[in-house]
Amino acid sequence: MKTPARGVRPTGGLPGRRRALIRLCRPADRASIERLGHPPHVADILCPRPARRLAWRLLGTRAVPVLAEEEGTGAVVGSVQFVRSRRSPDTWMFGHWRVAAARRREGIGRRMLVEGMRLLPPQVARLYSYVDWDNDASIAAHERLGFESGRTLWGKAPLGVLTTVGPATPALRLEPVGPRDWPVLFTIYTRAMGSLWLRLFPELDPRNFLGGTLGGLRAGVVAVARGQSGAAWSTLAPRAGTGTPDRSVAGFVLWEGEAVTVFADPAACDHGFLARAALQVMARGARRDLEIGLRGLPRSLAARPGPIGLQVLMGMPDVMTRWQG
Ligand SMILES: CC(C)(COP(=O)(O)OP(=O)(O)OC[C@H]1O[C@@H](n2cnc3c(N)ncnc32)[C@H](O)[C@@H]1OP(=O)(O)O)[C@@H](O)C(=O)NCCC(=O)NCCS
Repeated sequence: MKTPARGVRPTGGLPGRRRALIRLCRPADRASIERLGHPPHVADILCPRPARRLAWRLLGTRAVPVLAEEEGTGAVVGSVQFVRSRRSPDTWMFGHWRVAAARRREGIGRRMLVEGMRLLPPQVARLYSYVDWDNDASIAAHERLGFESGRTLWGKAPLGVLTTVGPATPALRLEPVGPRDWPVLFTIYTRAMGSLWLRLFPELDPRNFLGGTLGGLRAGVVAVARGQSGAAWSTLAPRAGTGTPDRSVAGFVLWEGEAVTVFADPAACDHGFLARAALQVMARGARRDLEIGLRGLPRSLAARPGPIGLQVLMGMPDVMTRWQG
């Protein structure tokens, strides 16, 4: 495989093809965005109505939708949306990256990212997106543009079916945690999210990693998942307050309102762990059809994903030197 290309490539496009102009999205572009293949709810996000724009403003959400428009015809041939992270204003995510099928592999996707970045505040330093695990074309395009892929996978699955993906025994214990468990939780978090995530969010530390302020969570309840001691569950997480290894902490569960996310130590995570964690979450009253988030899935799970929708993190922690240097 070739080395990922760096820098901005000439923007002329292929001979005989109309050149595309990269510009901000306008409310009047809604119908063209649907014609590009986005469903109406995505068109709503790319071309937000005034009420949604106001809600975003009140919540502090900064979103910048960008289009590729064919010169001459005015046809919309590509879209992408950049969203500023709440954790770190210098880190932005992008989504809804799409180029019309007939215009792919001409450099339009690249131009929307590279030139779109120039429409964002100048201090944007880090960029990432999530890609469906089986979207080989998108993963290849990200890699060619210089993105790195995360070591662990993200997932989501309805609780009920997740309980069936592995054996229910030996049971997992879920215990409430307090501030003194924070170092163990942070260790699990760093393993679950992986080093690429930590480079995208260099400010993360044991006091703020779950979105909380010093010493606590802003929202949510956390419980630690303890498995039977033994190889399948062991982790090297230090036991809170002692510095000695706690071999039984395999992950933790975070409740934020209705939303539930399981953070697993990838070394301890398999189908059995996920099934048992799901059983414990349901035992605490969560609905069978609730779709929960999964973090820290080892890549080996992708060989038999079953009902789990898998995604890979693609990140660029050094946008300035790659695209603006
Ligand atoms: C992903 C997508 C937006 C890329 O847009 P594009 O305009 O085709 O991408 P570009 O032509 O700018 O290509 C950028 C780089 O990726 C490479 N690339 C693009 N598609 C590729 C593919 N299918 N396989 C291998 N490499 C690919 C290009 O060769 C180029 O690298 P190079 O300049 O070093 O040769 C486009 O394929 C698409 O719309 N896919 C469907 C929607 C989708 O899956 N979106 C992503 C969701 S995360």
